[in-house]
Amino acid sequence: MNARTPLIVGNWKMHRDHLEAIQLLQRLAYHLTEEDTAEQETVVCPPFTALRSLQTLIQSDRMAVALGAQDCHPDPEGAHTGDISVPMLARLDVRYVVVGHSERRLHHGEDDALIARKARAALAGGLRPIVCVGEGETARESGQAEEVVLAQVRGSLVDVSPAEAADLVIAYEPVWAIGTGRTATPADAQDMAAAIRGALAERYDEATAAGIRILYGGSVKPANIRSLMTLDDVDGVLVGGASLSAEDFALIVGHRRGV
Ligand code: 13P
Repeated sequence: MNARTPLIVGNWKMHRDHLEAIQLLQRLAYHLTEEDTAEQETVVCPPFTALRSLQTLIQSDRMAVALGAQDCHPDPEGAHTGDISVPMLARLDVRYVVVGHSERRLHHGEDDALIARKARAALAGGLRPIVCVGEGETARESGQAEEVVLAQVRGSLVDVSPAEAADLVIAYEPVWAIGTGRTATPADAQDMAAAIRGALAERYDEATAAGIRILYGGSVKPANIRSLMTLDDVDGVLVGGASLSAEDFALIVGHRRGV
């Protein structure tokens, strides 16, 4: 056991309009017991258009679920058509923000330097960034997975101070495991999480690295959640597809049931 609070995050990606989002969260709340959400954090990251509706629902029903956003701009305001700033998210009680998801690295050309700016903006604005890293299939097959991932970790944390680092979350999501039904083996997930923690200890110090939560993402399902949550260096999960089913996500959040 370590002192890190487990963190279960659902990334809804570009799914569910605000009315459907309300339904999904209500169904999720119906399936969750108080025990499921105790001593761990449960977060959902809907599209921006649903944040306000879900904020109201969470508040009025006192749900033990927090809100996350899927992206942010590094600047607090400005002429950035189509972008959303950290202060805007903070006003909606958003506590977490995903930065550097592989889909944004790939389809929006985001690089480590931009992701580091977003992570710093999130921290400065009181949000916790979930910084995503992960190797592609070619890097995995050529034995370069660790090198690629650790370079992303270092590059995505440039100028993030040791004082701020405690609020960081790192999500290891191998690109070949996202939406494919292929999961990294528990041993591979543990090895990479340990390597990431090692890089964080080098960058900061052992104590800081020991406090930073590292998530695994990529085809997380009710069937594999328990084997992932028992790993020493994996402190939670970032769930895509399965978080769109209230029943499945409740089973993932409630992974300790019947253990
Ligand atoms: P899947 O769980 O659908 O593989 O998606 C993972 C992911 O990208 C979460 O951010």
